[in-house]
Amino acid sequence: MKLTHDSIERNLALLIVLTVLVVSVGGLLEIVPLFFQKSTTTPVEGLKPYSPLRLTGRDIYIREGCFLCHSQMIRPFRAETERYGHYSVAGEFVYDHPFQWGSKRTGPDLARVGGRYSDEWHRAHLINPRDVVPESNMPAFAWLGRTPADGASIAGKMEALRKVGVPYTDEEIAGAAKELEGKTEMDALIAYLQGLGLELKGVR
Ligand code: HEC
Repeated sequence: MKLTHDSIERNLALLIVLTVLVVSVGGLLEIVPLFFQKSTTTPVEGLKPYSPLRLTGRDIYIREGCFLCHSQMIRPFRAETERYGHYSVAGEFVYDHPFQWGSKRTGPDLARVGGRYSDEWHRAHLINPRDVVPESNMPAFAWLGRTPADGASIAGKMEALRKVGVPYTDEEIAGAAKELEGKTEMDALIAYLQGLGLELKGVR
């Protein structure tokens, strides 16, 4: 059989096989270089792996579904950079497993919320958002302030992250549970929020 355009289009199985082949090769050509490109694999200057407290806060962020209403990804459009700051770059997320980019914005993007408010503001806002933003429809998360941060699982989490390339040292892992002593889940969540996006803050 001669492989003409006509014969391919008339043979469904062949058309499917060739389509899958073309899409796979094309996809790989787009995706694979990203694993080796410096701009996507090198952390931006000043980026550090999450401290045990912030890592705990990040897990609470995921558990409570904050990502369902908040993205962490500033797109390179004027309207976004004027409001939130420098657009997000890949090097800011090299220690994020999984990343929290999201696309749903019931609330504002949080990629650079670090340092925008005081810890007290966050505490009041998480206990009852209406106390600080009267028109807010964000749910309250008051119980986080009454729940101790979980120190038992933190070392295991850090070890797992180390396996995928986050450079935690043995000492950091050994001392992790101690950093969470006496802290609540709210302390951890606020620590997480307060560190978000600082590396490129103020960069235009
Ligand atoms: C049902 C949607 C929804 C969920 C879930 C949600 N939020 Fe919000 N969030 C909002 C809305 C709407 C606003 C804007 C009004 C306000 O500031 O309260 C907001 C505002 C914020 C702000 C202030 C941002 C700024 O730049 O002013 C922070 C910080 C925040 N949310 C954190 C969180 C965290 C942390 C969680 C999870 C524990 C969470 N939100 C869950 C809807 C949500």
